[in-house]
Amino acid sequence: MDIVSVVGARPQFIKAAQVSREIRKKHKEILLHTGQHYDPTMSATFFDELEIPEPDYNLGVGSGSHAEQTGRMVIGIEEVLLKEKPQLVLVYGDTNSTLGGALASVKVHIPVAHVEAGLRSFNRSMPEEVNRVIVDRVSHLLFCPTKTAVKNLENEGLTKGVHLVGDVMYDAALHNKALAEDRGILEKLGVKRGNYLLVTVHRPSNTDSKENLAAIVDALVSCGEDVVFPAHPRAVKLLKRYELYEELKEGIHLIEPVGYLDFTCLLMNAKKMITDSGGVQKEAYFHEIPCITLREETEWVETAEDGWNILVGADKGKILNSINSFDPKGKRRESYGDGKASKKISDIIDDEFS
Ligand code: UD1
Ligand code: UDP
Repeated sequence: MDIVSVVGARPQFIKAAQVSREIRKKHKEILLHTGQHYDPTMSATFFDELEIPEPDYNLGVGSGSHAEQTGRMVIGIEEVLLKEKPQLVLVYGDTNSTLGGALASVKVHIPVAHVEAGLRSFNRSMPEEVNRVIVDRVSHLLFCPTKTAVKNLENEGLTKGVHLVGDVMYDAALHNKALAEDRGILEKLGVKRGNYLLVTVHRPSNTDSKENLAAIVDALVSCGEDVVFPAHPRAVKLLKRYELYEELKEGIHLIEPVGYLDFTCLLMNAKKMITDSGGVQKEAYFHEIPCITLREETEWVETAEDGWNILVGADKGKILNSINSFDPKGKRRESYGDGKASKKISDIIDDEFS
């Protein structure tokens, strides 16, 4: 059968790389890139290094307000769906590309499969939370990474089409682990194994607020540790706007976003991870690296319940305390599946549509 997969943002390329490989064994996949992320370091790098097939369509939607960006996506995706007439549309995660793909599809009566269904932060001020709730509501197949996700859907009365398959990012972590070792990036940056903090920041709650971004910068430049921060373009834009960029650049290794393999290499060898990313919280857990999360809540509750992730918000004191003393030792459960989520997704699609 013909499946249109909609991707657009960095984490979706990483997830789609795994699932694409499986579904292409039996189906025709038409890959649609919305163009939400477009800088080479945010897009092309991932296609090259993870050997993701060239997108059949790139809508070139780019950046904009939520309405502009999502609206342009819905219009462009609808055109492709009317032309290609697929039997299924596959969407990933919780970005505006996920929402655009799901909306365009259900409106022309094509069923939607949502990979990473059921995640909830219960914070509707996060754009992603709104996207998750809406996309889950209209999806026909809901592929959940965790038992918590299944439960969240159950609490909203969603049980039909729900499948617990595990986390495709765990598949990606296992698949790429060996490739990510010894990438030479530590030597290039002049940092030592186990002796630096790795940082990512891109959430609106941290970047759009001058106060929060300044508190994070303050903590990073004053912590006395080597810090590596591959900065998302959104963070760079706002660091510059708030005149925090130069101070940070002088105090730490502030670098361009890196590819998935270099990032994984940096993560596996870090002393601690400091992040507000969803995916990175899990990856820290997979690789047994303590994670300090610059948010007040998390969808990936298992990482915090097992003691490997501490939620500190954008509080300078809490960030510094956890840099100094957060030292998890507990056992990590196998909350994210067995590394075969992508195959399970492909098998369920076969069962449902054959
Ligand atoms: C988006 C997702 C977020 C996800 C993140 C992954 C939404 C609402 N947000 O956030 O859930 O965690 O991607 O990284 O979909 N920019 C560039 N070059 C690019 C891309 C973005 O310069 O290639 C800059 C632009 O100034 C843009 C800003 O980053 O306005 C934000 O980009 P956008 O795609 O709107 O949201 P993200 O913050 O990347
Ligand atoms: N990542 C990357 N390079 C970087 C920073 C992150 O390859 O410089 C990867 C990281 O390994 C993870 C994904 O990007 O797989 C997370 O994406 P992001 O934090 O942008 O989005 P979120 O997961 O919060 O939606």
